[in-house]
Amino acid sequence: MSNTLLSSPLQGFTDYKFRNAFNHFFGGIDTFYSPYIRLNGKLVIKNSYQKDILLENNTELEVIPQIITNDVDEFLFVSKYVQELGYKELNWNLGCPYPMVTKRGMGSGLINDAEKINSILHKVHNESDILVSMKMRMGYENPEEILAVLPILDTYPLKNIAIHARIGKQLYKGGTNLEAFQKCLDNSKHKMYYNGDITSVAAFKKLQERFTTIDHWMIGRGLIADPFLPSMIKNDTTEYPKNRFDIFHEFHNRIYEEYDAALSGPTPIKMKMLGFWEYFSQSFANPQKTYKKIKKAQSPKNYAIAVNEIFKEAKNR
Ligand SMILES: Cc1cc2nc3c(=O)[nH]c(=O)nc-3n(C[C@H](O)[C@H](O)[C@H](O)COP(=O)(O)O)c2cc1C
Repeated sequence: MSNTLLSSPLQGFTDYKFRNAFNHFFGGIDTFYSPYIRLNGKLVIKNSYQKDILLENNTELEVIPQIITNDVDEFLFVSKYVQELGYKELNWNLGCPYPMVTKRGMGSGLINDAEKINSILHKVHNESDILVSMKMRMGYENPEEILAVLPILDTYPLKNIAIHARIGKQLYKGGTNLEAFQKCLDNSKHKMYYNGDITSVAAFKKLQERFTTIDHWMIGRGLIADPFLPSMIKNDTTEYPKNRFDIFHEFHNRIYEEYDAALSGPTPIKMKMLGFWEYFSQSFANPQKTYKKIKKAQSPKNYAIAVNEIFKEAKNR
């Protein structure tokens, strides 16, 4: 069975600049989900969201846009917008665990409202021909919440349901719940995608052995921590290319230059890159030391020195 690998959206990380550089230097991802579009009570799409999904910024990539909402008018508005750009599909986020989202009945805070999910899907399918796919956790309070939703989802021609095998209240803590994920598979007619903690080829293989009917896998944090992971999964190997850290270094420099050109002043670029290094550091022999070194670099010059030292040491190992 051939596996399709999808880049799970990470707000603040996997924008079009990252996606293009990732695809160029590492490959291995079939389709990228763009981070969610959220409207703030008005039917207006922020410039940064618009830019992120413009076809001209994604020429080499297959991208699926995503929305987070609990409002059908917003859903229809964004559907029309993405269709006009040329997209056929809109992914609906029912997974976000953060209180500022869930307290407003969105993201994983919407999973326990099966009736609302039904009414939104009903109207969307009546008034639009957008292809809808779902990305969900299994609940907010407990993983049974989704079991009341799956029979409703069965009545719509969804493209697929991707499930991050956690509940909202966990945030990113604790393990995935694979028994509960199996229950979702047993209770849905839809094509299911797996998401959660694919952080190594070995972790992927274990999941693949357990869930033999799954052939679509979404990788989020794992591909920032180890950008070679998708291509290694695809090539069924645990061997890195010999010039692993040369490629990684070039990739780093590419995204640094692009973000540096787009952001103004030394602090925003430092914060942006520090976010990446929280994950990148895991590719290096001593992640904590690596991260600290970046954190300590207070000027662009010192940042460049720290980065060069980190890659030099990794290349010489
Ligand atoms: C910083 C951050 C931002 C995220 N942004 C989004 C998002 O915009 N849309 C979404 O569906 N999931 C988002 N997620 C969830 C991830 O896509 C993914 O479902 C989750 O991290 C579990 O997969 P992983 O273990 O492979 O990372 C985000 C996660 C993190 C840590």
